[in-house]
Amino acid sequence: MAVFQVQNGDGLRRSRIVGTGSYAPERVLTNRDLERMIDTTDEWIVERTGIRERRMVLDGEASSDLAIEASRRALDMAGLRPEDVDLIILGTVTPDMLTPSCACFVQQGLGARNAVAFDLSAACPGWIFGVSIADSYIRTGACRNALIVGVETLSKFLDFDDRSTCILFGDGAGASVLVPSEGPAGVLSSHLYSNGEGGKFITIPGGGSRNPASEQTVSEGKHYVHMDGKEVYRFAVRSLRETAMVALKANNLTPEDIDLFIPHQANGRIIDSTAGGLGLPPEKVFVNLERYGNTSAASIPIALDEAVRGGRVNEGGLILLASFGAGFTWASSVIRW
Ligand code: UT7
Repeated sequence: MAVFQVQNGDGLRRSRIVGTGSYAPERVLTNRDLERMIDTTDEWIVERTGIRERRMVLDGEASSDLAIEASRRALDMAGLRPEDVDLIILGTVTPDMLTPSCACFVQQGLGARNAVAFDLSAACPGWIFGVSIADSYIRTGACRNALIVGVETLSKFLDFDDRSTCILFGDGAGASVLVPSEGPAGVLSSHLYSNGEGGKFITIPGGGSRNPASEQTVSEGKHYVHMDGKEVYRFAVRSLRETAMVALKANNLTPEDIDLFIPHQANGRIIDSTAGGLGLPPEKVFVNLERYGNTSAASIPIALDEAVRGGRVNEGGLILLASFGAGFTWASSVIRW
């Protein structure tokens, strides 16, 4: 297992989030819709996952289309123009194509001609990984204005005959603008983890160099998400709680100090067990899973944007973020708003 931690307090200037934005496609796929497609029920999905509906892109829509809209909204809140952006880091496992990067499509779509842009593949914690990298660049003075995006169009990679995966995931994008902080607000620490031993439990095995796209890979469904739900569940419950505790300890905080906990929106039971284990009451836990399902790298930045726009985050408030995903990867961060 590899661990990487970035902790503020070394005298370098910290970074803070001054703009958030999100965008989800208009098409809604409800549990009732799924009842008509596969052998499932609304009751089963709600009880086992907490999800009621999710969004789906239309044919022809791609990840960068969602990411551009979310980024425009984040830049708007930040009061920055696209040409003010120095860096675009985009977390996704569902880019428009293998190359060029989704981040370059976003750069072009926004007109962010002064930005360096690249994708980051860390599955669900991709946005936290991206914030950690951008925070380091900003603190060392390598860049000023960074745009961190999490986006997925997982509906394009789901087997709608596999009821154990197709009910879980949805499409969406979230974006945040990070700038140098002049005061106490900012990213206080990031804690990133990877363990390739868990790689086999969530994969999209086809279309890469191991199994290049062919008639056979398509007929075997290798271009779809394959997941061992039980193994992922076990890992999720353990890793979310552990990484959240590491983040609290690193900042000498207790759960009572936290104003809002934003966990990865994968399964309501995983969220409840993590929040319960940390001793956080439901009113301090942000949940929008019932409307979006699991949007992987977009999950945390969409939730953060809704929390900010919904008045759940006040100046000086402490936000704890924690996520887990394919790889395995997991991560946490503490932000002072
Ligand atoms: O970002 C990371 C992404 N992944 C995750 O977060 C996944 C984590 N895992 C989970 O959330 C859960 O494991 C699932 C929601 C995927 C599955 O829940 P579970 O409580 O672990 O169910 P299970 O796989 O143990 O299946 C229980 C039963 C099985 O039937 P039998 O064998 O007991 O007769 C399944 O066939 O439920 C059945 N089942 C369903 N029934 C109705 C599985 N999917 C469905 C479904 N509708 N959609």
